[in-house]
Amino acid sequence: MTTILRGNIIHAPSLGRLETLERGYLVLEDGKIQGLYSVLPEAYRSLHVEDYGEGLILQSFADMHLHAPQYAMAGMGMDLPLLEWLDTYTFPAEARYADLDYARRAYRKLAADLIACGTTRVAMFSTLHTDATLILMEELERSGVTGYVGKVNMDRNGGKNLQETTEESVSETLRWLDQCHFEHIKPILTPRFTPSCTDALMEQLGRIAAERGLYVQSHLSENRGEMAWVRELCPDCGQYWETYAKHGLWKSHTIMAHCVHSDEREQRAMAEAEVLAVHCADSNVSLCSGTAPVREMLERGVWVALGSDVAGGAILGMNDAITASIRASKIKSMETGAAFLTVPEGYYLGTTAGHRYFGAGAGFAAGDRLHAIVVDESRFPEPVRALSLSERLERALYLMDSRDIRAVYSDGRKVLG
Ligand code: GUN
Ligand code: FE
Repeated sequence: MTTILRGNIIHAPSLGRLETLERGYLVLEDGKIQGLYSVLPEAYRSLHVEDYGEGLILQSFADMHLHAPQYAMAGMGMDLPLLEWLDTYTFPAEARYADLDYARRAYRKLAADLIACGTTRVAMFSTLHTDATLILMEELERSGVTGYVGKVNMDRNGGKNLQETTEESVSETLRWLDQCHFEHIKPILTPRFTPSCTDALMEQLGRIAAERGLYVQSHLSENRGEMAWVRELCPDCGQYWETYAKHGLWKSHTIMAHCVHSDEREQRAMAEAEVLAVHCADSNVSLCSGTAPVREMLERGVWVALGSDVAGGAILGMNDAITASIRASKIKSMETGAAFLTVPEGYYLGTTAGHRYFGAGAGFAAGDRLHAIVVDESRFPEPVRALSLSERLERALYLMDSRDIRAVYSDGRKVLG
């Protein structure tokens, strides 16, 4: 089956480089990108063209770190630092997901809103509840979101309503894994962070990861108070990352959210292991965690992508995560002189860098299943002059929200519009 889309195509094949095609053609064969053309090849000329007119055909977003249960508490407790925010707002909010009717309603709304704001790939935390996690996976699958979801493991410091025993955590993880039969949503092991998981639990998770070939996601060096706590809990580890590494959880495609205070040694450990560092600028500013050394990490060869960290970040739309990362990098730049992130770099980090996690190529690469959005700019103010496509991308990233997204393609299927 051949599908042909037409519009203003803008993609980011590498960090800082945009490729644009004015009123170009994107040809799909069975949902896979066959090619991009300025002039449609003869062989396709008799076929129907889905013409989006002046619409912008952009890569869809990859949100590489967010907490599904926290969407319902977005915009709450933002004046607290991380550890108090977790105890006061987050853990009580997550405890609600023992109620499966509540979970169904909350997750159905999240899944629809993700697609509406153009996020088609995710790496997501659920809660420790196995059945609610399966409901989340079902709802994401139904809406067209693809990617990884983790049942959270936590056997300490969660309080009485949000904690498992070590044995429960392991047996529930195995029960959950046995029931994960979704086409587009796969399981990822999710020790919440070191303060939530004993060594005994981490060790078992490391074993399960190795035996079943599973990826791992967690948090790293987000906040100074958190880091001091980890040093107290794990006096045998020189640095935070080693608390994961010592149990086999630090490996290629391990996802570490935040990395705000990762120093040169920790960054080099990430680069060496091919760990994905997920930068969540909105969250890091809102919870006063800091501004991550993104430029430094990139220069050291660390694989960096972006996350909304909903609800440490209050906004689901990844275009906002992109502009937040640009703003945070400018604060960093004013402090340290490091070059800030440009718009093409932000777009790359919010799209291609995350899509790579799922095996995708560079930008709209031939052979990849299409993940794309179509943005309609008609709600924006009339521009003061004719704009280039890269200027239109910049304006779209700063101004757009779900109202401006006319169509969404996920894994080669049209899932909105
Ligand atoms: N560290 C451990 N849990 C969390 C969480 O839910 N959000 C954030 N931002 N950091 C965490
Ligand atoms: Fe987080």
